Amino acid sequence: MDRIAITGGAPLQGAIPIYGAKNSALKLQAAALLSAEPLMLENMPDLADTRFMAQLLKSLGVEITWIKETRTIRMHAAEISSTIAPYDQVRKMRASFNVLGPLLARMGHATVSLPGGCAIGARPVDLHLKAFEAMGADIHIEQGYVKAAALRGLKGAEIEFPFVSVGATEHAMLAAVLAKGDTVLKNAAREPEIEDLADCLNAMGAKVEGAGTSEIRIKGVDALKSAKHKVVADRIETGTFAFAVAATGGNVLLEGGRFEHLGAMMKVLRAADVTIEAEGRGLRVQRSPRSRIKAVDFETEPFPGFPTDLQAQAMAMLCVADGQSRIKETIFENRFMHAPELARLGAQITVHGNEAVVTGVPKLVGAPVMATDLRASVSLVIAGLAAEGETIVNRVYHLDRGFENLEAKLAACGAQVTRMREMEPA
Ligand code: EPZ
Repeated sequence: MDRIAITGGAPLQGAIPIYGAKNSALKLQAAALLSAEPLMLENMPDLADTRFMAQLLKSLGVEITWIKETRTIRMHAAEISSTIAPYDQVRKMRASFNVLGPLLARMGHATVSLPGGCAIGARPVDLHLKAFEAMGADIHIEQGYVKAAALRGLKGAEIEFPFVSVGATEHAMLAAVLAKGDTVLKNAAREPEIEDLADCLNAMGAKVEGAGTSEIRIKGVDALKSAKHKVVADRIETGTFAFAVAATGGNVLLEGGRFEHLGAMMKVLRAADVTIEAEGRGLRVQRSPRSRIKAVDFETEPFPGFPTDLQAQAMAMLCVADGQSRIKETIFENRFMHAPELARLGAQITVHGNEAVVTGVPKLVGAPVMATDLRASVSLVIAGLAAEGETIVNRVYHLDRGFENLEAKLAACGAQVTRMREMEPA
């Protein structure tokens, strides 16, 4: 398995291009199943997860052409040859579950493995299934599989989510666009990825209104057509680099980063004494390496609150803050696994249930570390960049799921980061 070696201490200086959002791209890829005509996605992130989704779509009969030079993927689901997503595929990547709604809407039936839990929490899919039932689908769970059928087609429905779920909102949208009649989604998630999905579906001929607010209205149509759509810039990648600059000090232009998608993350950065401003088509992040970060309290919340996907990165920054910070994780029940790894670098963190207290230290010292999920892994990279000496991050495959060219982007800004590739057996 590859590892990343970081020699910390250098402030980051330069420019970093922000790519398309993984968590949007994966749902947009699933949308390709809804139409017999091709869907082209531009600004497509080339990640282990998006490649995996492309493989899954291929196994369902979708023709895939990935043009790496132009960062474009063309997906053509002229005919669906299979409506089954097996355990191995959904187990390896939860977002695979998102093929269920489009298959059900277009084909009238689908069999998709239940995703099961993952490192950050139990992550049930009950809200997804209830939404499909409300649209008239018969849902049975058999031997770990969801068997869904709506042989006469899905019907529009009014669905009020008991709490905000990004995945359930997106999945309901992916099904409702081809349902007969009107669907209203209440207490819908408002993440920028939801608006991106609505924009793509509308470009395909769907009728979706209100995405980005907590009430989304969808008028079902008979069929969707060919479209071209540009994947929205990744706000989590943007925030990750912003926290890296904050932790090391420096001055970096995040090209393509969208100010309006920062939500409460901007408040946390500014309260920590980091300058972040819109500049041209991006965002400039600055902090003098001579001053220390200020301690900040925050809690994770659905958008526009502070994103859970940046909690670990913010914690890495706060490890070197002047004072004590409190972090409350309200979205996932087990998302502090980076804390003991950060402690290996000298961070002082205590965790009680869903709250962590970080007592800032003047400096971290490099050490070997590893993490069990994507965002936790990148928080260790940030801590390594801010630490004295060498940090080795193990299990780099987590990073490859969601960050494209991470080492190259950091190295271009003066960081000493190298990937140590494991030798293939002879
Ligand atoms: C998406 O997961 C993202 N994944 C996550 O990013 C992100 O952390 C999360 O949204 C929150 O922003 C993708 O987009 C692929 P939810 P999702 O449904 O949709 C509970 C990353 O690192 N829930 O908004 O699964 C759930 O357990 C990943 O890129 C139910 O109880 O998140 C959680 O506690 C990690 N029943 C809460 O709701 C359901 O049916 C919010 O989850 C659905 C969710």
